[in-house]
Amino acid sequence: MAQSTTAKKLLHIDTQHLYQAGVGEEGISTAEIKALASELRQIHQSLVKKSAAGLGAEYACLNLHVEMQSLLPSIQAMAENIRHFHDVAIIGIGGSSLGAKAVHQTLSAVSSNEPQPTLHFLENIDPYHLEALLEYCSAESLAVICVSKSGGTIETVVQYLILREWLEKKLGKEKARQHQWIITDPSQGWLRDLAQRETIPSLPVPPKVGGRYSVLTAVGLLPLAVAGLDIQALLAGAGANAERCVSEEVTQNPALEMAALFYLLDIHKDKRISIMMPYVDPLQIFVDWYCQLWAESLGKHMETRPGKPPAGTLPVRAMGAVDQHSQLQMYLESRLDKIFTFIALDNWDHDLAIPLPPEDKKFFPYLAGKRMNEVIAAELQATRQVITETGHPNMTLRLPTLNAHVLGQLIDLYQRVTVYTGLLYGINPLDQPAVEKGKKLAIKLLSGDHKN
Ligand code: PA5
Repeated sequence: MAQSTTAKKLLHIDTQHLYQAGVGEEGISTAEIKALASELRQIHQSLVKKSAAGLGAEYACLNLHVEMQSLLPSIQAMAENIRHFHDVAIIGIGGSSLGAKAVHQTLSAVSSNEPQPTLHFLENIDPYHLEALLEYCSAESLAVICVSKSGGTIETVVQYLILREWLEKKLGKEKARQHQWIITDPSQGWLRDLAQRETIPSLPVPPKVGGRYSVLTAVGLLPLAVAGLDIQALLAGAGANAERCVSEEVTQNPALEMAALFYLLDIHKDKRISIMMPYVDPLQIFVDWYCQLWAESLGKHMETRPGKPPAGTLPVRAMGAVDQHSQLQMYLESRLDKIFTFIALDNWDHDLAIPLPPEDKKFFPYLAGKRMNEVIAAELQATRQVITETGHPNMTLRLPTLNAHVLGQLIDLYQRVTVYTGLLYGINPLDQPAVEKGKKLAIKLLSGDHKN
């Protein structure tokens, strides 16, 4: 893959407008941060301790840039076999889909690679979507990767059962088997059983790595390798971010600083909505990934602090500049209950000059000689300024370029910020007890039990 000279550059993380000095009284003071310093040291030490045992660690998700290296040859070999197919259906939902989908969207938008198999992400239980795919694809040219850590998620199981039957009808059982791959728990669940029973090639999800933290395992790496994307650079980027987050001092650890600021903005300033607004279209699904990570990890009762309100800021996606024409009015005149994260791109590999015929120049004199990236940069700067002047705390992530290394950094950064923030709230950022409630009830209803 073509890598630009900015391949190894780090993200620029600008938090100045989260502080009072940058945004006024709605921001956090340095005194508030100092008052939290010893707690921050403790949670950092706890994170270090709980990620010390490789894949066996509680926070194994923070070690994947190292731990997945040994599995890369198997992932690449499997991807090589799958790449012969024209279409690849990836069945999975939530954490078993969003990470791969996000990275794929970003990198395929900027990649100059040879055409790869077309990836079709099948998440929702939607007959229209699945039927459309079956009409569009021929069985001979379709590979199926079924991804589920538990091996029993209803949306995934249903779609896989339908696709398996369709493949078997078209190709016969033995040939159909050669079109299937599985990513699941190494030792339990229906998918593991099926993989063993039918000798379907499979890869493991490390038991300690939860769905929404699993993009850097085979869950994300296999589909991305099938698409010919640079998974080694993705892991290297995650490692580069991990390296800049080793200090227990908040001023020298950007993930710890972001966690402290987002936590304090919720607890001290009633900021209950976290809006992420990239001015880069290919990051749209990345924001969905962030929303899931943040919401499912942090939206919880604070059981260890009885009497305290529930934890968590509601993550919301906005797109620059589109939502300037949709949401910005509310941002500027409604409540000061929001935190903004803008994402800017410094180096656009693809850019277009704006042609301005002389007869049109008098209408748009400010566009003369400009390129598209200059317009989007001006729009971002203007929005950021009016948001700041309104008094909303905001931060900006500047991406040096769009490549796998940068995405790896973003993934590691947000996984770390989420774990630190969970520890600050005193909740477990790895579980999702309330989600399980809904899953169980749906199964009850399907079993014909209509009583609540
Ligand atoms: O983050 C999570 O744990 C969830 O979003 C899961 O990824 C999602 O429910 C799918 O679960 P599974 O991988 O077991 O099919």
